[in-house]
Amino acid sequence: MKDSTPRSIRLADYRPPPYLIDHVSLRFDLRETGTRVFSFMRLRRNPASEVTESLLLHGEGLDLQWLAIDSMRLGENEYRVDSEGLHLPAPPEQFELSSEVIIAPEANTALEGLYRSGGMFCTQCEAEGFRRITWFLDRPDVMTVFDVRIEADRERYPVLLSNGNPGATGELPDGRHFAEWHDPHPKPCYLFALVAGDLKHIEERFTTASGREVRLRIHVEPHNIDKCEHAMRSLVAAMRWDEEHYGREYDLDVFNIVAVDDFNMGAMENKGLNVFNSKYVLARPDTATDADFQGIEGVVAHEYFHNWTGNRITCRDWFQLSLKEGLTVYRDQEFSADMGSRPVKRIEDVRLLRTHQFAEDAGPMAHPVRPQSYIEINNFYTLTVYEKGAEVVRMQARLLGPKRFREAMDRYFERFDGQAVTTDDFVACMEAASGRDLGQFRHWYDYAGTPVLHIQDSYDARKRRYTLKIRQEVPDTPGQHDKPPFHIPFAIGLLDGEGRDIPLRYGEIDSDGGSLLLELREREEVFVFDDIEERPVPSLLRGFSAPVKIDYDWNEEQLLHLMAYDSDGFNRWDAGQTLLRQVILRMVAQRQEGASMSVPEALIGALRTALFDEQAEQALIAEVLTLPAIGYLGDFMAVVDVDGLHAAREHLKRTVAAALREDLLMRYEQLRETGEYRIEAAAIGRRRLKNTLLSWLASLENDDAVFQLLLDQYGAQHNMTDVMAALSLIADSGRPEREDILADFARRWATEPLVMDKWFSVQAMAVRPDTLAQVRALMDHPAFSLTNPNRVRALIGAFVNGNPVGFHAADGNGYAFLAEQVLALDPLNPQIAARLARALARWRRYDEQRQQHAQEALRRMISAGVSRDVYEIASRSLEEDAE
Ligand code: TRP
Ligand code: ZN
Repeated sequence: MKDSTPRSIRLADYRPPPYLIDHVSLRFDLRETGTRVFSFMRLRRNPASEVTESLLLHGEGLDLQWLAIDSMRLGENEYRVDSEGLHLPAPPEQFELSSEVIIAPEANTALEGLYRSGGMFCTQCEAEGFRRITWFLDRPDVMTVFDVRIEADRERYPVLLSNGNPGATGELPDGRHFAEWHDPHPKPCYLFALVAGDLKHIEERFTTASGREVRLRIHVEPHNIDKCEHAMRSLVAAMRWDEEHYGREYDLDVFNIVAVDDFNMGAMENKGLNVFNSKYVLARPDTATDADFQGIEGVVAHEYFHNWTGNRITCRDWFQLSLKEGLTVYRDQEFSADMGSRPVKRIEDVRLLRTHQFAEDAGPMAHPVRPQSYIEINNFYTLTVYEKGAEVVRMQARLLGPKRFREAMDRYFERFDGQAVTTDDFVACMEAASGRDLGQFRHWYDYAGTPVLHIQDSYDARKRRYTLKIRQEVPDTPGQHDKPPFHIPFAIGLLDGEGRDIPLRYGEIDSDGGSLLLELREREEVFVFDDIEERPVPSLLRGFSAPVKIDYDWNEEQLLHLMAYDSDGFNRWDAGQTLLRQVILRMVAQRQEGASMSVPEALIGALRTALFDEQAEQALIAEVLTLPAIGYLGDFMAVVDVDGLHAAREHLKRTVAAALREDLLMRYEQLRETGEYRIEAAAIGRRRLKNTLLSWLASLENDDAVFQLLLDQYGAQHNMTDVMAALSLIADSGRPEREDILADFARRWATEPLVMDKWFSVQAMAVRPDTLAQVRALMDHPAFSLTNPNRVRALIGAFVNGNPVGFHAADGNGYAFLAEQVLALDPLNPQIAARLARALARWRRYDEQRQQHAQEALRRMISAGVSRDVYEIASRSLEEDAE
């Protein structure tokens, strides 16, 4: 903390490690205060390195007891320790380094390295946490075989876990015991893990395709043992799926998952010992919503899939982070699509990308999927690296087709198993398997910013010729100007007047079943289609075939036609979203001019048609009836008008709900929950639609019958999905019953922290004049704690990121509150503080008064002398070149 001007790390400066570490033995003497770590490791000079000067082993906050080379204790003048680590001036070509350090997990609130959560010890080493445990070459291209011995008090820590396969266990004097673990797979130290605690587990046996027996266990604190089943089911499904779709089997005798309450991110893929934020393990129908269940399925699969994409094949350096994260997100997205509804999953993923990644890509923190420099690597676990990275893999899968893509993946696993590699190595496999040149495609890894496709079309009735003119533009981003054109897979269809796909040919490319995959490469291109009988309605970027923005001048008629007929389910939904966006933005303009806001009849009609669509999946209808978020809509305004957008959205909802009240009520009744709660796609879709209808109805503020529905649905306590849907609408209302219901919920769930998080969030997101005061008051609630990241996200995060009207209040109080909380959090947990600080990154998008307040808040952070983490976010946000 409090470095004055932190240093940038650059991709261009990458050098191979000076030494390699072939083997390490660690012994942990776990104590409530003063844990001792003994390390014995074999190092040898790396033949691939030219560096010969002194060797730096990373280490932070280690209290060194003694140090020896080849069993000879070193005197104090034979090494040097500074803030970076341990410098050995002239080490031998090959040697054994042994050491003992004392560390203080009990005082570790940053949740990096070895720390305590509840009554247990656990670790988080990615990205650079291992250096807080012992001296090491803490970089992913140093892969080592680990042996671990853990010693602890038997009563308080009966369960002792680490990576790999279990070895000897036994008793020690003074009520202590030990367990040994051996991991045969060489791994970078960021995949090291250790857990010690009083845990209970559920167990399952899994036989791999080739007949290996694996023992699966999920470990939790005893009172949570009844909330693990769904995670286990997800794990088994993911293991089978990876065998079937990629031919990848698990490679150890045991696979352990541990749920911990204090965790900075979602979960961590440590070899053979995944450590999870308890939010992504624990679920019961009465405590978790459908979204929670789906989140668990996705994250369990994500971490499991890392075993091959991340662990067996890892990253050469942290600039290659998307090599494992983009690829693994792509894999978990496909898994979830197979487990549930494919079109709905695609819509959810695209919505996340458009609402949040596009914003990141257009702001001061914009960076390529493979960044070129960073100050703090923890700040680069971003939507760009994860979600855009997944789109970049998806585009390659699309360009190659399923068969060639699988061949390319097989080649990747074959060629690079056991190595630390680059995104270029990955793309080279795609090239080798397909014989295609992906040179221009690599721009997706190297340039930031969301490309925009400016599209014009024309139809010549005499020549029966339809022409599409496409100009691509890649916007400037900080430090990157005048970018070359990208290679963009662009799927299209043309609809005739009846809504049918017109069969298309373009050169060699045929439209199979209606869609044509064009490949854009030039700054400007013209595509001509002959023998087109009538002016078609274009369906552009089908399936969201590339992470780009489309600039095309749609008229209402075209969008209604697509909404009704497009054979591409994604584009049917997207046409509706575009129409809603146009209507809302027009309403905002009307409001700004002091005119009254108007909702077109045709829109209401189209929504009514969607409501009664018998063909469509219910979840898909719910997506059609979900309004684009304020954050997304703001991107289409020169100056974001949060209040205007909120007012327009509410007015639209109220108008539609009033017009369709009887229809909505009827459909709601039909969809009411009767039987047992089931967590499967159809049932989830049904609840999703029902609760979407409820939210439209709830916009009818003075409608007592509707409010009674909310109370009834809450009162029925059928399942947490329905309870939360009702509770959030009640919390958003000005009704007197609000306080009683909130109090009832808190009484029921006082001892379940993850459920209390929901309670914090609905209050933080309520659009009411007193919300900020409520949030401040809730920070004193006994269930709240600034040291727990889930609590911070649930209350402060929900207000800052989930309540645009409250956070962007014109008086600047939301921004001042953020600065205050960032400064309070920074000394405790800089990663979490920095994530929160991002909420101010796009301050330039707002009016002048808000800009002033935001700048003040950012300057206040910097002048307080913050961590590298917060410094990087705040200083980049203020840079001139930023937006
Ligand atoms: N590798 C983890 C994942 O995506 C990410 C992660 C977990 C992480 N914990 C972290 C990244 C702490 C940085 C810091 O699955
Ligand atoms: Zn990951």
